[in-house]
Amino acid sequence: MGKKLYIETIGCAMNVRDSEHIIAELRDKEGYEVVEDISSADLILINTCSVREKPVHKLFSEIGVFNKKKKPDAKIGVCGCTASHLGEEILKKAPSVSFVLGARNVSKISKAIKTENFVDVDIDYDESEYAFGDFRSSPYKAYINISIGCDKSCTYCIVPHTRGDEISIPPNIIINEVKKAVDSGAKEIFLLGQNVNNYGVRFRDKTLKKMDFSDLLEMVSEVEGVERIRFTSPHPLHMDDKFLKVFASNPKICKSMHMPLQSGSTKILKAMKRGYSKEWFLDRAFKLREMVKDVHISTDVIVAFPGESDEDFEDTLDVVKKVRFEQMFSFKYSPRPLTKAAEFKEQIPSDIGSQRLKTLQDLHSDILDEISLAQQGKIYTVLFEELRSNDMVAGRSDNNFMIQTNGNKELLGKFADVKITNPRRMVLYGDIVKT
Ligand code: SAH
Ligand code: SF4
Ligand code: F3S
Repeated sequence: MGKKLYIETIGCAMNVRDSEHIIAELRDKEGYEVVEDISSADLILINTCSVREKPVHKLFSEIGVFNKKKKPDAKIGVCGCTASHLGEEILKKAPSVSFVLGARNVSKISKAIKTENFVDVDIDYDESEYAFGDFRSSPYKAYINISIGCDKSCTYCIVPHTRGDEISIPPNIIINEVKKAVDSGAKEIFLLGQNVNNYGVRFRDKTLKKMDFSDLLEMVSEVEGVERIRFTSPHPLHMDDKFLKVFASNPKICKSMHMPLQSGSTKILKAMKRGYSKEWFLDRAFKLREMVKDVHISTDVIVAFPGESDEDFEDTLDVVKKVRFEQMFSFKYSPRPLTKAAEFKEQIPSDIGSQRLKTLQDLHSDILDEISLAQQGKIYTVLFEELRSNDMVAGRSDNNFMIQTNGNKELLGKFADVKITNPRRMVLYGDIVKT
């Protein structure tokens, strides 16, 4: 009987991919199989996020749940970004935890499970050329890392302290991954990095030829069998004309761009060290709308960053009104350890932050209702990925609308044209008009 692994993943797509790597390592080298039921597991892993305080709290509440449900001799391991920043402290705070493995040390998982009180949270460790085994949670969509770490130093953000400096993965490794994914049935390639359009800035192998993200996108699109390419996260600062041109003109690149605004105020953007102004952001967003018909622009916004005045917040609302993002992830600023902004004097009271978040989200909900309604009667090509209840299937259009229609598992992994008949805020319902 094989050993059983239960793994929970919190956080971003990079963590999802790290968990896939962990599963592959433990399957290939240690004979583990994944189970859904904690009480049958021999090893329980939690892959953590540190980006705001909330997910860190979640780590400790989840450990409490594991303690109650686990087999007496099952081991608990903590991986990911909170492992990186809290390290040994986790073992002290939660004695049932056996090991702590940082976000940049995934390849050491075999050693971690065999070593008593193992802690390794080295953020200088270079896994950019490590050959992980193959495991993917979705048969149709393949996450592929193109870089590790982040070279920016946004003053609110803990990620550079949990994932270290940015190193690009060599293009031949990425292309091999793409080929393997396509050979095993993937239709969509999802390239991952904290700062994808900074690709090529530094390789481990100094003799590698210089190239940028636009070049990489072209290379990936030339792999036979790749039907769709998505990526996250690009940085607005690096959205130069060359990048926008490749994005607009390459038919395999999905017409959905994440443009993390963070704030609409140039003063706050400066304090955040984002490197662009309100005007630059608007210029890039308008240019994108002009170049790409039906482009979907998503964003991340932080409200109540230290020093944010009512006028600064108005600037954020102004950008949201002007760009009319198709999707917005918005957060109240959360002071993080090791970051500069946590030391800034003018911290904003929590109730003001909550009010601003509500104002922003209400504004965006209204915009989203208008955007959704305008989809009535349009036809989109959808790649079906999920079975929903009541004999329905769901998938995404090229420009990232979530679209749902009647159908069964026969449709999974297939493309079909869907005419929108009932557009809602989060999901557009429709009928298949062509398969
Ligand atoms: N590399 C990505 C961001 C990864 S973190 C990028 O630059 O877009 C994901 C999002 O979490 C960020 O875009 C930001 O909006 C939010 N975030 C990061 N640190 C935060 C903090 N201290 N408080 C609130 N939100 C934060
Ligand atoms: Fe954090 Fe900024 Fe790097 Fe994104 S670009 S991960 S927000 S430091
Ligand atoms: Fe969270 Fe780490 Fe991703 S802090 S958002 S899991 S890079």
